[in-house]
Amino acid sequence: MSKTMTGLSPEKLIDETIEMLAEAKMPVISTGAGMSSESGVRTFRGEDGYWREHRAEDLASPEGLRKDPELVWKWYGERLKAYEDIQPHAGYHALVQLQERIGKLPVVTQNVDGLLQKAGLIDVIELHGSLRTASCMNRCGSPPIPITEELFESLPPRCSCGSILRPDVVLFGEQLPEQALRRAFDLAESCDLMLVVGTSMLVYPASSLPLFVLRRGKPVIEINPEETPLTSLAGVTSIHGAAGQILPLLVEGVSFR
Ligand code: OAD
Ligand code: ZN
Repeated sequence: MSKTMTGLSPEKLIDETIEMLAEAKMPVISTGAGMSSESGVRTFRGEDGYWREHRAEDLASPEGLRKDPELVWKWYGERLKAYEDIQPHAGYHALVQLQERIGKLPVVTQNVDGLLQKAGLIDVIELHGSLRTASCMNRCGSPPIPITEELFESLPPRCSCGSILRPDVVLFGEQLPEQALRRAFDLAESCDLMLVVGTSMLVYPASSLPLFVLRRGKPVIEINPEETPLTSLAGVTSIHGAAGQILPLLVEGVSFR
């Protein structure tokens, strides 16, 4: 853990954060790809990030999918395969512990790796959709179909109408799932603390959620080894460290109170 923006020693910063978290009755968690990096998931913009190797437009946009659906499906297939074997790290277990203590703990996530659910978090709001199902690119009206191994036998997978299928994740330029988005904004308007973990804060509208919390005068805590656009804002307590180390420290601290 490096020195802090506020000038507090790391120990004091952790103590103050534990205090805030212990007082919160309706905290909300917001996670990005960095929440899972210690479980072996690659981020998008970090050192091992996909977008350092590929153009996001090629792999995660409707245009990219139309242009080379086989390439895009291969990429999602590889990611899905990687997600099958990974396990939630200590930071995830800490969130579950916090959920048990408070009774409920909504988690808004940009991730599609399924780790929150695997760890046992119950109220997961998937802002960027999921890799569980695929839908017709042509919106022919056929219901979403589960993404299984068979789907990858002949790429690209096709809908019964002949059009290509697309995974039900949010692609660049697309609207977010309406219900998830509404829920996320409702939470930003009603929570008494937001804990933001492992996101570069560069993708809207997820990046705007903590701003609503700050506008209401409620605290925002950030856990990220790097600085983000959120780090230096008034009302933000930023802890520079890894989710798998910091979250257990915070939650253990809370449970000793
Ligand atoms: P990014 O890859 O943009 O950012 C990951 C963040 O995690 C960076 O700020 C890292 O510093 C931080 N990080 C890395 N390791 C960490 C650790 N162990 N603990 C805590 N933080 C760590 O990922 P997101 O912000 O999630 O969208 O990206 C947002 C969206 O952009 C994704 O959902 C995806 C992508 O394009 C779509 O595909 C639509
Ligand atoms: Zn169709």
